[in-house]
Amino acid sequence: MLNWEEEVAPALAKAGLAPQPVAVEPQRPQPDQMAMAPQAAAPASVAAANLSGGAAMRVNAADKRVINAKTDVNQLVPFKYKWAWEKYLAGCANHWMPQEINMNRDIALWKDPNGLTEDERRIIKRNLGFFTTADSLAANNIVLGTYRHITAPECRQYLLRQAFEEAIHTHAYQYIVESLGLDQSEIFNAYNEIESIRAKDQFLIPFIDVLTDPNFKTGTLENDQKLLRSLIVFACVMEGLFFYVGFTQILAMGRQNKMTGAAEQYQYILRDESMHCNFGIDLINQIKLENPQLWTSAFKDEIKSIFEKAVELEYRYAEDTMPRGVLGLNAPMFKGYLRYICNRRCLQIGLDAMFPNEENPFPWMSEMIDLKKERNFFETRVIEYQTGGALSWE
Ligand SMILES: [Fe+2]
Ligand SMILES: [Fe+2]
Repeated sequence: MLNWEEEVAPALAKAGLAPQPVAVEPQRPQPDQMAMAPQAAAPASVAAANLSGGAAMRVNAADKRVINAKTDVNQLVPFKYKWAWEKYLAGCANHWMPQEINMNRDIALWKDPNGLTEDERRIIKRNLGFFTTADSLAANNIVLGTYRHITAPECRQYLLRQAFEEAIHTHAYQYIVESLGLDQSEIFNAYNEIESIRAKDQFLIPFIDVLTDPNFKTGTLENDQKLLRSLIVFACVMEGLFFYVGFTQILAMGRQNKMTGAAEQYQYILRDESMHCNFGIDLINQIKLENPQLWTSAFKDEIKSIFEKAVELEYRYAEDTMPRGVLGLNAPMFKGYLRYICNRRCLQIGLDAMFPNEENPFPWMSEMIDLKKERNFFETRVIEYQTGGALSWE
């Protein structure tokens, strides 16, 4: 939203139109307000000047800010944050739907009493128990929280795409649950019943609640830090750490030719989540760049202790889902893996690695995440969408 005194009035004066003095409250525009043309609030005496003065409301890319912007959030262009727009385009190009994946082999394997071991079945049920609700939490966090506090329209555009992808992920997990004929209420309520899942969600929910609180507004150091903290938890802990034991387990199963339909669904989801995490990290770094005052040493210490707790919770989840070795995996292998991922998240947002010298025990997971390699793998599907999406008017 433009500020009348600082931007509109001088522009009118420059155009030779004498602006009338207008009382403008010295109040910072709140990002959740829809940015409408300021003439709506201007007195009638200047109304005639507003048609030409309206040109002063054109957005200058240099004035855009990721949080607390004064520019009109409805004007997507001119672009300032091209990285966000490019991720939006990449997300759209990777579009997929759960029903496209054939689940027949999974159904036969699940129904065969000798098809899977009890430990393998436990992994599948725990996995779905966590993810069925995790992606709803993610969607709510975007739609009811994050979105209204972000004032860069390119970033909002990506968040809209991301919100739809979270809906697709919930759909995919529901589709697996339905295909296998699992007890739906047992799986969907697991986050209230299974301690290792509940502990992860209870850790996350306060950070989501901050942003969804209708009274929460950015614009102060304290609140801007609250927003940044929640964004870090969401991108680096939830999407960037809490998903990785589960993803590794199901993809390891697929690599052993078991539950290949579910594994393919997870592979698409992992590709999306990897982009969500990268977008979140870009967003965090852009906010840091524009608001360096938020990145204090006390704040950094706090983030490190959040990461420490998150690694511990995800490790407890690994222990609960793998009481014994299964699929060539065991819980202790994940201790190193989670520390390795945590180091990576730290470095990505400009913190020192917390667990130096950790190595990746699952290098094949990096190949699964690598979008460049995946792009070839998924190419046919992308083309199907580009041609199959044409409308027929018959
Ligand atoms: Fe998701
Ligand atoms: Fe996500």
